[in-house]
Amino acid sequence: MKISVIGTGYVGLVVGTCFAETGNDVICADIDERKIKTLRKAKSPIYEPGLEDLLKKNIHEKRISFTTNIKQAIKDTEVIFLALPTPPMEDGSADLKHVLDVAKQIGQSMNGYKVVVNKSTVPVGTADKVRDTIAKHTKYEFDVVSNPEFLKEGAAVMDFLKPDRIVVGSSNQRAIKIMEDLYGPFIRTGNPFIVMDERSSELTKYAANSMLATKISFMNEVANLCERVGADVEMVRKGIGSDPRVGQQFLFAGVGYGGSCFPKDVSALVKTSEEYKYDFKILNSVIDVNKEQRSLFAKKVIGYFKKNLKKKVIAVWGLSFKPNTDDMREAPSVGVIKELLNHGAKIQAYDPVAMNEAKKYLGNSIKYCKTDYDTLKGADALVVITEWHEFRRPDFEKMKKLMRGHVIFDGRNIYNPQVMTENGFEYFCIGRGK
Ligand SMILES: NC(=O)c1ccc[n+]([C@@H]2O[C@H](COP(=O)([O-])OP(=O)(O)OC[C@H]3O[C@@H](n4cnc5c(N)ncnc54)[C@H](O)[C@@H]3O)[C@@H](O)[C@H]2O)c1
Repeated sequence: MKISVIGTGYVGLVVGTCFAETGNDVICADIDERKIKTLRKAKSPIYEPGLEDLLKKNIHEKRISFTTNIKQAIKDTEVIFLALPTPPMEDGSADLKHVLDVAKQIGQSMNGYKVVVNKSTVPVGTADKVRDTIAKHTKYEFDVVSNPEFLKEGAAVMDFLKPDRIVVGSSNQRAIKIMEDLYGPFIRTGNPFIVMDERSSELTKYAANSMLATKISFMNEVANLCERVGADVEMVRKGIGSDPRVGQQFLFAGVGYGGSCFPKDVSALVKTSEEYKYDFKILNSVIDVNKEQRSLFAKKVIGYFKKNLKKKVIAVWGLSFKPNTDDMREAPSVGVIKELLNHGAKIQAYDPVAMNEAKKYLGNSIKYCKTDYDTLKGADALVVITEWHEFRRPDFEKMKKLMRGHVIFDGRNIYNPQVMTENGFEYFCIGRGK
């Protein structure tokens, strides 16, 4: 099938590459010329495990190409995926300007039947808005489908190739059949292909992310209580997670959720609820708890140094919002580091892949080190913010030799408190006593 993907970011590039991998002819279009140039050289502008290899292979086999000519990409294809940003506006609602701008261009470029598939996370009612916008500019037949994307950054390629479900919002049999054909190769093992109306599909994506964010904030509150009552959140997690009704995933206490999706999607769902005169009480608390969680963690460090971090050197391990990605959007590290800087700390940080991205958010306010151990030279404390695998089993003796103070603040509970004490560290984590 001839497919275009408009918007070649984290979602669009994975979607385009994976559809090419199953034999489709894919054109990825984006307004960002630099990105398109990089992609034409078979280089991925983002870090995503497995993506660059797949990209190289499909470029080599001429199944995927890249352009900044959006209108031509629309003309040349029958199925058009929208993977455009839907950033939060000041009031928390999703900004649809990119989606509707491209919808207008689709209307203007129509030259036959097309299916427009919305992969962006968009508020309920957007399919109607996209349909109206296109219809204003064309007499050709088309269908608009809602097809939310559930991939996780850091595991995006595998998630797309082996999805646990495909959600398709459409009541049009022709469009549904096209979607079934496209997704068939990915769900051969029988994972569900769920067809519903557009509104339910659009809401499904927000409800899914909000549910996951709720689990995280809930566990962070349990952790905060654990610290007060002298319980261990890791044991509580195991105790409740083994109940299949609760499940093991997303129960880890930490510095709160971040990334390009959860914060904006939870806020957008609250906003949608408000528009429909519904007070979504739980979600407002989820947001508050999440904001507070970063600050609570920073306060642990600040409190330890009696609110004076002048002349204190703090090593930071991990900057990206989660491991296996270089995405820094809404990364908890930024908030924590800024609070420490505000109290006079000098920060020396390391992240395996997100250093370049981090510079866009933290500029020259911190020192970027070449390795995790380099951050420890002369450090008064180590702060762990992102749980990259390589931070899990460091050489504690080497660390002690490099550090000036032997104290670790672990924002992801990756170490065993007993082991840390045995190794001569003062150890502070989330929800595990001290
Ligand atoms: N990142 C994720 O993990 C994820 C997962 C599921 C859903 N989503 C949703 O998918 C959508 C895209 O997210 P993303 O993370 O890929 O965003 P992104 O910012 O990484 O990529 C968006 C791309 O669209 C391009 N763009 C902007 N305006 C354009 C226009 N008018 N024409 C062509 N290209 C244009 C940008 O240059 C950018 O390359 C969002 O709605 C997001 O909520 C994201």
